[in-house]
Amino acid sequence: MTVQLPSYDLPSCNRQVQLVRRPNGVPLADDFALSEQAVPSPGKGEMLIRNLLLSVDPAQRGWASAEANYASPVALGSPMRALAIGVVVQSNCPDYQAGDCLYGFFGWQDYAVATPEQIIVTIRHPLPLEAQLALFGISGITAYLALTLCGRPQAGDTLVVSTAAGSVGSFVGQLGKSMGCHTIGLTGSDEKVARCIARYGYDQAINYKTADLATALHAVAAKGVDVYFDNTGGSILDTVLRQMNVAGRIVQCGTASIGSWSPTPTGPRNEREIMTRRLTWSGFIVLDHRARYARAADDMARMALDGTLVYDTHVLQGMEQAPHALSLLYSGGNHGKLMIAL
Ligand SMILES: NC(=O)c1ccc[n+]([C@@H]2O[C@H](COP(=O)([O-])OP(=O)(O)OC[C@H]3O[C@@H](n4cnc5c(N)ncnc54)[C@H](OP(=O)(O)O)[C@@H]3O)[C@@H](O)[C@H]2O)c1
Repeated sequence: MTVQLPSYDLPSCNRQVQLVRRPNGVPLADDFALSEQAVPSPGKGEMLIRNLLLSVDPAQRGWASAEANYASPVALGSPMRALAIGVVVQSNCPDYQAGDCLYGFFGWQDYAVATPEQIIVTIRHPLPLEAQLALFGISGITAYLALTLCGRPQAGDTLVVSTAAGSVGSFVGQLGKSMGCHTIGLTGSDEKVARCIARYGYDQAINYKTADLATALHAVAAKGVDVYFDNTGGSILDTVLRQMNVAGRIVQCGTASIGSWSPTPTGPRNEREIMTRRLTWSGFIVLDHRARYARAADDMARMALDGTLVYDTHVLQGMEQAPHALSLLYSGGNHGKLMIAL
């Protein structure tokens, strides 16, 4: 397979979007500042990368906050931690050469000096770069690995997915359908409900903002829910959990509905439901599974190329879009994998 190298320019300075204030909850535009730095030089074992597409991911909320997390918080005054696709401009690493196109932790900036540890995958599939960021970025890989490793769906299972029209959710619904599941999507607008069914192949979809969720879910999942792929937590989780079948699996992949973890939110007690329904409730963090990425990316690429997996991208233009991009994501205003083209 050959990859068409993208055309790109080389700016004379390095624009960065730095984190300048610690957010409590969803990061706001004022938590960031644009700054111009000299283009950095790579040292021994490092390479200089020109970023082309910056990823915008819900995980960045956790990386920006001081709350306990699986990753250390981004230091104030540093470029915002972010995944990106970029091209190697200069390499002092034996395994990478100028012109290689890579996906990794390169930050919200024009240029990154990176070591091989920051690279997640080499871009090598004949698909547009935007598609590769959606499919092989953390969205696609998370959908694939969290569903197969934690959800373990069987043909005939009823699979419920929250943020169903989003980047992760749209892939989970399609993958679940291809495994023979009855798929039900939960999402936040009528337009997204229609898209879940017409484009992502969900059997049913519910607008959780306007429906009585417990009643609407029971109407389309009368035999109960076998797998719940949860990206929101909160009251949506509390409702679905009470309709799970015995031996059901909950994949805790995200907590988009929780505005802030400080102070710790409280809600109904769920432990009796977990016990009596004999549920398995698994937490999933995609970065724990790097050894599985290449195989997952190959499978996702095959399905995208043969048309069995559709993807949507929402591309913002220019670095100056970055500071408000996370608010857009959490408002539900994105239509597909959110990213910024430089
Ligand atoms: N654990 C991991 O390793 C991992 C990796 C990647 C992503 N994730 C998680 O996967 C989830 C989806 O990520 P994504 O990149 O695909 O984003 P996305 O679904 O494309 O966008 C985020 C969506 O969250 C929904 N949302 C925002 N606020 C909400 C609220 N208060 N209540 C309910 N839903 C709300 C909105 O959809 P609606 O309009 O439908 O409400 C919004 O479009 C996130 O929770 C993210 O943290 C986890």
